[in-house]
Amino acid sequence: MSEKSLSEKAPAEKAPAEKAPAEKSPALALPSGMLAELTYRCPLACPYCSNPLQMGGRDSEMSTDDWRAIFSQAAELGVLHVHLSGGEPASRRDLRELVAHCAELDLYTNLITSGVGVTRSIFDGLVAAGLDHVQLSIQDSQPEGADWIGGYEGGYAKKLEVAAWVVAEGMPLTVNAVIHRANVHHAADMVDFAVRLGARRIEIAHTQYYGWALHNRAHLMPTRAQSEEAYRQVEERRERYKGRIVIDHVAPDYHAKYPKACMSGWGRLTLNVTPQGVVLPCHAAQTIPGLEFWNAREKKLADIWAHSPGFNAFRGFEWMLEPCRSCERKAEDFGGCRCQALALVGDAAACDPICSKSPHHGLIDEIAARDSAEEIKGFAPRRIAAAREKNPA
Ligand code: SF4
Ligand code: FES
Repeated sequence: MSEKSLSEKAPAEKAPAEKAPAEKSPALALPSGMLAELTYRCPLACPYCSNPLQMGGRDSEMSTDDWRAIFSQAAELGVLHVHLSGGEPASRRDLRELVAHCAELDLYTNLITSGVGVTRSIFDGLVAAGLDHVQLSIQDSQPEGADWIGGYEGGYAKKLEVAAWVVAEGMPLTVNAVIHRANVHHAADMVDFAVRLGARRIEIAHTQYYGWALHNRAHLMPTRAQSEEAYRQVEERRERYKGRIVIDHVAPDYHAKYPKACMSGWGRLTLNVTPQGVVLPCHAAQTIPGLEFWNAREKKLADIWAHSPGFNAFRGFEWMLEPCRSCERKAEDFGGCRCQALALVGDAAACDPICSKSPHHGLIDEIAARDSAEEIKGFAPRRIAAAREKNPA
């Protein structure tokens, strides 16, 4: 990927004048990855879904030609990997055509799917179109728990079927598992399960609390002891399965000392395109009020990447407040997650309160202790219809 600078435009100055001067931000690189949220439609109803609470349905989605144009521009811009996601991307009837277009452009295609809705003929069509990789979500290692969490009876069995097709085809399979209070005791079993499925890689991630997960946090938050035990058991599997499966392990945020570099830094390496064509630095960016994001149906992707006000708002270091501004870790974690800072502290430019240096860090311990003590009474299921009821506008 070329590292040619597109823009060195500094974002608006937000830090108070008396604070230490920020270092100059690095030159803007080109994006290497794009998450294409083809649709918000999905047969499952996972309570930790990262999709927004307000979701547009089929009638608001972009057309096949819109997506083809965006993929062509992405390839020109230097994007190498396209993650075809949703919702459930197999809900789109033109999925095969979109994969074929990406393959013609030499884009590496990763299908992020629940497996539900992927029939044998759809899968064969995707293979013929040149699909490179499948990332299959699992909700639990046990069928009853998996179908309950996903809100879809028979989902677990369907996943087994799809995983077997992928492996038999010789295509690389990644299994993706989100850990929360209802399945935390099976975290290590899920690694065993992925090995049995023939996956080459598992992403095992403790829930990140935005979107539907934030909404359902009181039913999802494990206790510190549960999180630590699950983390230890998964790490133990690394040695056991060395050379058989790669384990990507995302630690629980609320029990960490420092935050993660959310999205590897805002607008630094990747972009997200919503089903309606809005181009975002992360899936939750539209929760931040006052930011202006541009639409790929109206502007070129290269222009959006370099000049969209929303992308430039939190790039580099100039926007940072203390303690991030003078912190030696700022080039590692970029101050954590902007959306989480907004949700928990009310200021998207604040230090992510997950960080032990944040003056608001005490709040995290309070929330974790309070929410993990709640009884699991039932999740608010992620559904487009439910979202519309909650947000009639
Ligand atoms: Fe990261 Fe900011 Fe915490 Fe430093 S103070 S570790 S930059 S979040
Ligand atoms: Fe938006 Fe982390 S989810 S910056």
